Amino acid sequence: MAAVLLLSLVAVLSCALDGAILARAAVVDPNIKVFNVLTFGAKPDGKKESTMAFMKAWNAACHYPGKARMVIPYGTFLVGQVIFQGPCAGPPPMVVQFQGTVKAVTDIDAYPSPEWFMFDTINGLLLTGGGTLDGQGGDDWKYNDCSQNNDCQLMPANVKFNGIQNGQIRRINSVNSKAFHFQINKCQNFGVRRLNVSAPETSPNTDGIHISESNSVRISNTVIGTGDDCISVGQGSTNITISRVRCGPGHGISIGSLGKYPDEKDVTGVIVRNCTLTNTDNGVRIKTWPGSPPSLAKGFLFEDIIMENVRNPIIINQQYCASSSCSTKEVTDVHFRDIRGTSASKVAVNIACSSALPCQNIELFNINLQSTTPNLLFQPSTCSNVKLGFSGIQIPPPCVVSKS
Ligand SMILES: *[C@@H]1O[C@H](CO)[C@@H](O)[C@H](O)[C@H]1NC(C)=O
Ligand SMILES: *[C@@H]1O[C@H](CO)[C@@H](O)[C@H](O)[C@H]1NC(C)=O
Ligand SMILES: *[C@@H]1O[C@H](CO)[C@@H](O)[C@H](O)[C@H]1NC(C)=O
Repeated sequence: MAAVLLLSLVAVLSCALDGAILARAAVVDPNIKVFNVLTFGAKPDGKKESTMAFMKAWNAACHYPGKARMVIPYGTFLVGQVIFQGPCAGPPPMVVQFQGTVKAVTDIDAYPSPEWFMFDTINGLLLTGGGTLDGQGGDDWKYNDCSQNNDCQLMPANVKFNGIQNGQIRRINSVNSKAFHFQINKCQNFGVRRLNVSAPETSPNTDGIHISESNSVRISNTVIGTGDDCISVGQGSTNITISRVRCGPGHGISIGSLGKYPDEKDVTGVIVRNCTLTNTDNGVRIKTWPGSPPSLAKGFLFEDIIMENVRNPIIINQQYCASSSCSTKEVTDVHFRDIRGTSASKVAVNIACSSALPCQNIELFNINLQSTTPNLLFQPSTCSNVKLGFSGIQIPPPCVVSKS
């Protein structure tokens, strides 16, 4: 009880803190110049489009040579594509105080590139304030055929961060994106905290957070329920930490898919810790495709993870391959430690590696996964083409490693 109280106290304090930091900055620092979208003509009625007002407010704030803050106040704004282009002139960080609700224009032709908001090439960015991004994806999901059609039109992500150094997003809600909610690409030293991300279980490609070609990204204290991956870590990502995230529904936390496109870079150093997955398709997954030039997926720790009715709690899938195009992704040094809860299928642990390039140094330590359905015939871990070590508790029982 005391612990619970303490935890909620900490939550309240840190909640108050975000606001307090902003408020204090405004009070203490008379040099901060505020750029409110209302001043630039935005209409908080949810009907009249405010795209130009948002662009003008950003451009004025970003080009201001002193400390600047863009403010999106309470109210509902209808907005099309906005590129928050940097670099900015003032001292970092550029602050975007986002309190209201912003709704995306529904006409797909209003998005010349696949993002609704894009923050581009900025050193020092803070986006916070408790506001809500509503992608209004509902009408567009039925046109999404990207699972069958490689030339499909990419729908816009709610927010893409591209080339941001020293970025922070805190306390932002994102609902019903047309495709990805948040995309973090080519970013360095990027912190994500206290997001609430949601879209229906049936909505296509609504990944919560997708990371690619980024270094030193931390995601914590976040709730994500969508129709696709909760968090996916794509090619070229290094030093990624994901902690205290709740996922579900959706497809779980995924490294990959890797190897779908040519010239992909390595993925190294990913820690996923203290996360809970509820009613997801996968728990923690590493997935590679056959073909493409060789690259490395190395150094992953999945620790203290709770699975609640998850279809494939632990899964490595180096896609089945014809002899000509086996996976050339090397998967090595992967540790699954203290993973517990329930599995919705009878195969709770499934490590399927490629015969051309077996997985190396995979560890399972203290795995305790029971079947959700009583009396379901629960199978031992299944595995192929892998150097695997078991220790501690093992439920389901370890597989017999085939020595191929
Ligand atoms: C997250 O957002 C959903 C949908 O908007 C809402 O129902 C839920 O209460 C929110 N959760 C938290 C923890 O704020
Ligand atoms: C990894 O990221 C953390 C912050 O998340 C940072 O403090 C640390 O220096 C990074 N390490 C490397 C080797 O980049
Ligand atoms: C992570 O989970 C473990 C086991 O549930 C718990 O002992 C530990 O305190 C948690 N750590 C944090 C930082 O929440």
